[in-house]
Amino acid sequence: MRLRVAVLGCNGMLGSDLAKACNRAGFETIGLDLPEFDIRDFNNVRSNMPQVDWAVNCAAYTKVDDAESHRQEAFAVNAEGAHSVARVCERRGIRLLHVSTDYIFDGRRTRPYVEKDHPDPLGVYGASKLQGEKSVRAEGGHFLVARTQSLFGRNGPNFVRAIAKKLVEKGGPLRVVDDQVSAPTYTVHLAEAFVQMMKLSKEGIVHITASGECSWFEFARAIVDRVKPGEEVIPIKSSELGRPAPRPGYSVLDNSLYISWTKHPMPTWQEGMDAYLKEEGFV
Ligand SMILES: NC(=O)c1ccc[n+]([C@@H]2O[C@H](COP(=O)([O-])OP(=O)(O)OC[C@H]3O[C@@H](n4cnc5c(N)ncnc54)[C@H](OP(=O)(O)O)[C@@H]3O)[C@@H](O)[C@H]2O)c1
Repeated sequence: MRLRVAVLGCNGMLGSDLAKACNRAGFETIGLDLPEFDIRDFNNVRSNMPQVDWAVNCAAYTKVDDAESHRQEAFAVNAEGAHSVARVCERRGIRLLHVSTDYIFDGRRTRPYVEKDHPDPLGVYGASKLQGEKSVRAEGGHFLVARTQSLFGRNGPNFVRAIAKKLVEKGGPLRVVDDQVSAPTYTVHLAEAFVQMMKLSKEGIVHITASGECSWFEFARAIVDRVKPGEEVIPIKSSELGRPAPRPGYSVLDNSLYISWTKHPMPTWQEGMDAYLKEEGFV
């Protein structure tokens, strides 16, 4: 059977790669995004949601630092918007794949977070995404909440491009934080994983990220080694950046459940980085 899939937030970094992956998989794919499709408006979602097998909610307020001073805007999209999407999906019998984040955790652990670990977000963005998760779950229906982290992809500003561009245009040294550890994930790899989840009709909560882990400093070091070996990278602390939003220190997500479902691990962050650098023409 040919699956029909609606990608909400289809112009964003993840949504655009997901729409392409769905097309490659032979799904009938319908992309929806602002300004015509606005998840802040329940009536808009109700009127414009096509009758599909799956809706994948990649639409979100993703400006982590701005969210600290724009709480209402962040919650309007990430919490109330997610709720509207879940309500419409539940009423229409549409399966919902809702995208969430490692920022729902406080990052104080020293081992990867599993799905049932207690969430305790540090900032407004994480709090709004956690409220979105809760709304999706409370609405019932067939849902899969997929938590991921540290995304990079062609259709959005991201760490890999920022580092590679700086190296090419100005050179080093680079100053990068070494006290935030995650598994940077290539959106193309994540999109392929979402296709698998839909084919397998999975439900519940699942963590899906690149395999492995690294600090942003280690990640920058690896990018430098590919793009312009020999340039200096200096480790600094998050506190030196003075960013408005606090970020979790160690927020690696355990992929064991995903592996048990699909029988194979996600590509590593190094594989994602290499593929992305090639795609962007940096190597
Ligand atoms: N980026 C990361 O590192 C990361 C990490 C973990 C989880 N996530 C999650 O992954 C998902 C995708 O993130 P992303 O990085 O691809 O984000 P993104 O590039 O900012 O894409 C989000 C898309 O949603 C759209 N959008 C915003 N408000 C909307 C609304 N009210 N109604 C409909 N569409 C709306 C945006 O449009 P505009 O651009 O016009 O606002 C954009 O096209 C999000 O749920 C995010 O929380 C991201």
